[in-house]
Amino acid sequence: MQEKKKLYIKTWGCQMNVYDSHRMADLMVPLGYEQVDAPDDADMIVLNTCHIREKATDKVFSELGRLREHKDRKEDKGDKCLMVLTGCVAQAKGKIITDRAPYVDIVLGSQSYYKLPEIVAAHTKKRIINTDFPTISKFDFLPEEHQGQGVSAFLAIQEGCDRFCSYCVVPYTRGGEYSRTVVEIMDEAKTLIDSGAQEITLLGQNVNAYHGQGPDGKHWTLAQLFEALAKMEDLKRIRYTTSYPSDVNDDLINAHRDIDKLMPYIHLPVQSGSDSILKAMNRKHTAQEYLQTIEKLRTARPDIAVSGDFIVGFPGETDQDFEDTIEVIKEVQYASAYSFKFSPRPGTPAASMENSVPESIKNERLQTLQAVLRAQQERFNKTMIGKTLPVLLDRKGRIAGQLHGRTPYNQAMHIQTDEENYGKIIYVMINDAHLNSLQGII
Ligand code: 5AD
Ligand code: SF4
Repeated sequence: MQEKKKLYIKTWGCQMNVYDSHRMADLMVPLGYEQVDAPDDADMIVLNTCHIREKATDKVFSELGRLREHKDRKEDKGDKCLMVLTGCVAQAKGKIITDRAPYVDIVLGSQSYYKLPEIVAAHTKKRIINTDFPTISKFDFLPEEHQGQGVSAFLAIQEGCDRFCSYCVVPYTRGGEYSRTVVEIMDEAKTLIDSGAQEITLLGQNVNAYHGQGPDGKHWTLAQLFEALAKMEDLKRIRYTTSYPSDVNDDLINAHRDIDKLMPYIHLPVQSGSDSILKAMNRKHTAQEYLQTIEKLRTARPDIAVSGDFIVGFPGETDQDFEDTIEVIKEVQYASAYSFKFSPRPGTPAASMENSVPESIKNERLQTLQAVLRAQQERFNKTMIGKTLPVLLDRKGRIAGQLHGRTPYNQAMHIQTDEENYGKIIYVMINDAHLNSLQGII
């Protein structure tokens, strides 16, 4: 039997990128490639990049520099090592990168990675750059999932975004909003479940704008999709991310009340608590509307864990604007959150806005905000002490005899248990809680 070729993929950024990396690995299986965990002796190295925040391009350059040694070593032995750049930096900066790093062999945008096998097969010495936005969906070309993603799997149901928040590159790098059909999604879910998935996280940049075609020819909502997925017996848990506040409709809220398999967790970024900043960000909601949405969700599902994203130091952000953000945070009481300093992304409207906030103030605000969020997260975790929660054991732990699992609220924990319990939902009595994990006994 011919020896398998080694494919090393380094992934940055969001879960959508993690998903894309899986699919690329799947695409390369028919060409004899097998994904490996380290770049040593790789026949192909893929850098799947993220452009969402600052220094993305710099990070790619330094990683390219490091990985180049592996390519050189391999080629010194007379073997080939293809260096491939994909993802959002490739989409936005492909040409600049190959000018500075001519040893990159292939540059593929986020919409054209489905062409990877044909491009690799056809690759000679000439560099290939393909960052088009094709008119047909890349999903039509993807093979069925080969590699299986284990107990907890991702499934992209929607991609791109039409919201054009003034700071964000996604509408430019990922293109306009596109929803896959229900049939395609159900087929992929079935393949994932057949290969062991018990939990599926539906992915989309603006996932609750989902409006894919249903088998009845009509556009289905995200909630309708949840209902269909919940009927799949071997699927135990459904999650989804990331949602946009004004696209949270009553259907979605009621789904949290009615569908047991839908986990009580929502990632609902607000970005800022100041209406004038939200307006400058081109967000289509006010702070009040956001808070009302959270209230409705909590009425439907009182224990729902809320998570969010925040940007501090957006151009023109005053002390009062920042205070307004802290107020919203205090009102919501987040279970978890991500927060960032504003970073101007070339080509976005916010990049050329005046009144930029000095770096020192950005740093100060970020620290203040993160301290509040950390305290909330720890507090939320501590409310679990004394409860018995169902934990899905989805990974091996760091040490032998330990498995990693997640509660319905997406809290992580390590449990001393038989490896045979991998893939099972077990009931755990929580006896301690920290910032990033819980502890408990079976
Ligand atoms: N600067 C800082 N943070 C950003 N995000 C997106 N674009 C920027 C930017 N230019 C953050 C937002 C978004 C998350 C994925 O990244 O909070 O929700
Ligand atoms: Fe970017 Fe999200 Fe705004 Fe879309 S809704 S432009 S992905 S921040």
